[in-house]
Amino acid sequence: MFGKRGSPKTTAQPTGAGLGGVSPAAAPAPTQSQHAEVVVQEDVQAFKTEEQLPSSRGGAAPSKRNDDYYEVKASIFNALVEAIDLSQLARLGPDDAREEIRDVVNDIIALKNVMMSISEQEELLDDICNDVLGYGPLEPLLARDDIADIMVNGADTVYIETSGKVEKTGIQFRDNKQLMNICQRIVSQVGRRVDESSPICDARLPDGSRVNVIGPPLSLDGPALTIRKFKKDKLTLDQLVRFGSISEEGARILEIIGRVRCNVIISGGTGSGKTTLLNCLTRYIDSTERIITCEDSAELQLQQPHVVRLETRPPNLEGEGQITMTDLVKNCLRMRPERIIVGEVRGSEVFDLLQAMNTGHDGSMGTIHSNSPRECLKRMESMIAMGGFSLPSRTVREIIAGSVDVIVQAARLRDGSRRITHITEVVGMEGDVITTQDIFVYDIQGEDANGRLLGRHRSTGIGRPLFWERARYFGEERRLAEALDAADQGEAMHA
Ligand SMILES: Nc1ncnc2c1ncn2[C@@H]1O[C@H](COP(=O)(O)OP(=O)(O)OP(=O)(O)O)[C@@H](O)[C@H]1O
Ligand SMILES: [Mg+2]
Repeated sequence: MFGKRGSPKTTAQPTGAGLGGVSPAAAPAPTQSQHAEVVVQEDVQAFKTEEQLPSSRGGAAPSKRNDDYYEVKASIFNALVEAIDLSQLARLGPDDAREEIRDVVNDIIALKNVMMSISEQEELLDDICNDVLGYGPLEPLLARDDIADIMVNGADTVYIETSGKVEKTGIQFRDNKQLMNICQRIVSQVGRRVDESSPICDARLPDGSRVNVIGPPLSLDGPALTIRKFKKDKLTLDQLVRFGSISEEGARILEIIGRVRCNVIISGGTGSGKTTLLNCLTRYIDSTERIITCEDSAELQLQQPHVVRLETRPPNLEGEGQITMTDLVKNCLRMRPERIIVGEVRGSEVFDLLQAMNTGHDGSMGTIHSNSPRECLKRMESMIAMGGFSLPSRTVREIIAGSVDVIVQAARLRDGSRRITHITEVVGMEGDVITTQDIFVYDIQGEDANGRLLGRHRSTGIGRPLFWERARYFGEERRLAEALDAADQGEAMHA
């Protein structure tokens, strides 16, 4: 116990508003204890403000909470700050710090004679701990496993995505200042800063969740914070089959595509499941292969032992030191990769990836934002053009057709379900046009009474895909034939 009850002055002086006084740019990413200290100091300031404005809105604010709750919380919080040695608290691990806060808060409630039920007391304690030790009102959302995305549009509006559906929550921040402080707390952990002079920032939570912040003056109604929650237990192809995202036979074909070193582009809209699918495909890579992954924010979880993981780097506060995806992919080629996997292809790196696919790194993979396999081919073309390569369009198309073997299309449908809608082979060129053939497609057939889309995956009846020879080379031709036959039989039965 290190409480300093009886000592009226606290040793921790609040810093200026927001991050004033703490320069994450100058300091390395804070350790756990440094982090806790920054958090405490900011919130002391936040609550001082609230003390002056007792009717202002509070932190984790499900709508049922009223101003009284926040007044009580503010007064207990301020008493806590007086009673506890914050610099010592910052040295504790999260569990011990929580226990310490619990003891002191219970004493304060008894001393102040605040009337509260046990459950109200627990709720208040959670709130205070979240504000002092964590990410405030976001904590309960971060603790939930069923949430894919958290989208904060200013202090009053927080949306979440669960099971493909976006819904508004009752969570609110006290004000935009508290929200900005929390954004700052998140990005300072990766040594970055977000403020009016640099209002856009990508970061990562300690658990790997991907974070984007865009603050005023660019976002007009307060900071916008978007979090893609990191799933430790990534979905597998078998789970995708169970969810109906792909049929059993389709999954077997994807498995073979992953194993026999086809060059694959996974195409899909935002949040359609591209990264998840890429991760699934990598499971079937042989454990002896040397794989190099390039990502903006490491999301892939490869199971193989021989993997080198690379991540791009944004410029520092002086605008220097940026390492782009193109830099990484180019460098990969000097690292004797057997496969190169690019988390998300957005720009000119597509050219380097295609070159890699073309020059003995078969089985390379990447994802691209696009809504159909055709559009994906066009996107690649325009990314090459935007990269400043002045090649005739026919040559560009020839490079694409000669490099990419398969495009797998993922989609989030309007009922929120995620489906693999196409497994498409890139066949070659006819005149100036890249030709493709679908092996598997998903047809939407209607809608049930609950608004859920009904549909089915069907084989297009291609008996021998172009990667047949590859499958034979890797000893997978029987399994491929079985999967294609089963799909065809299913088709015949359906007809
Ligand atoms: N087939 C699926 N069924 C159910 N949930 C899925 C499926 N595929 C992905 N998800 C979930 O959807 C969320 C988004 O998936 P993922 O990150 O793979 O999408 P993405 O297309 O890569 O998104 P972004 O465009 O933002 O990179 C994750 O929480 C993931 O677990
Ligand atoms: Mg992704």
